[in-house]
Amino acid sequence: MNIIDGKLIANQIKAELAAEVQQLRSQAGRTPHLAAILVGNDPASETYVANKEKSCAEIGICSSVYKLPENISESELIKTIEFINQDDEIDGLIVQLPLPKQIDVNKVIATIDPRKDVDGFHPVNVGKMVLGQASYLPATPMGIQLLLERSNVETVGKHCVVLGRSNIVGTPAAILLSRNQAHANCTVTLCHSKTANLKEICRQADILVAAIGQCEMITADYVKDGATVIDVGIHRVPDATKKSGFRLAGDVKYDEVAPKCEFVTPVPGGVGPMTIVGLLINTLKAFKKEIYQ
Ligand code: GUN
Repeated sequence: MNIIDGKLIANQIKAELAAEVQQLRSQAGRTPHLAAILVGNDPASETYVANKEKSCAEIGICSSVYKLPENISESELIKTIEFINQDDEIDGLIVQLPLPKQIDVNKVIATIDPRKDVDGFHPVNVGKMVLGQASYLPATPMGIQLLLERSNVETVGKHCVVLGRSNIVGTPAAILLSRNQAHANCTVTLCHSKTANLKEICRQADILVAAIGQCEMITADYVKDGATVIDVGIHRVPDATKKSGFRLAGDVKYDEVAPKCEFVTPVPGGVGPMTIVGLLINTLKAFKKEIYQ
């Protein structure tokens, strides 16, 4: 069993990015800049955005957070996005999800200039990704692919089962891992809440990507001996023995699954740290105008 150390790999990549930022700054006379819009006071979203700011600072790029009230109207939010779209000093823009229910998330995402859409959520970037054209790749699927690459996990011709069809993780992960490109070329099965014989399908996976949002649902009987298991889930489980009163767990029941795996990601410290790396990579691509001129 090899535990994929996402924190270590993320730190290695961040060090590489920090060196690149120094070079870019001296060449361009300007620092790459990421803007994040945070609506409301969802504690998880606040933590994610704070971690994104911290990671930007670590690699030497600027970040700014636009904090907007929970009851903001859709049109006010859209005005803020349009304002940032126009700002030539800002290279990348993310709107932290989820958004309050009075706001149409699709309309909001469609307002982001695709050239600044470093989350890769805009329909233009999703379309380009599906077509195999250069685009901003969504951060979590990119992070998964980087973990496989840096851990030398063979993907070509392997059966990859992706659990979950969200726009942010499952669907783009299935597309990315099936493309005719390096660190992909898997045969992909995308499973979801209506999949019949889920366990049997999972047991056929050489690579199992769990992104279903069900705490510790994937038990040892879902996993083939020698599989690679990538756990995207993150949940708080009450635990009186912890000072915080909880422990973190994934979609995978780690203690019983890990001994069966060739490679496995822990929670925390697996996929989580890599999602921010994907965002940083995209922000540098935006600064360099690598995708769009
Ligand atoms: N909420 C959960 N994951 C993400 C993400 O990758 N980007 C944004 N903007 N919001 C999220």
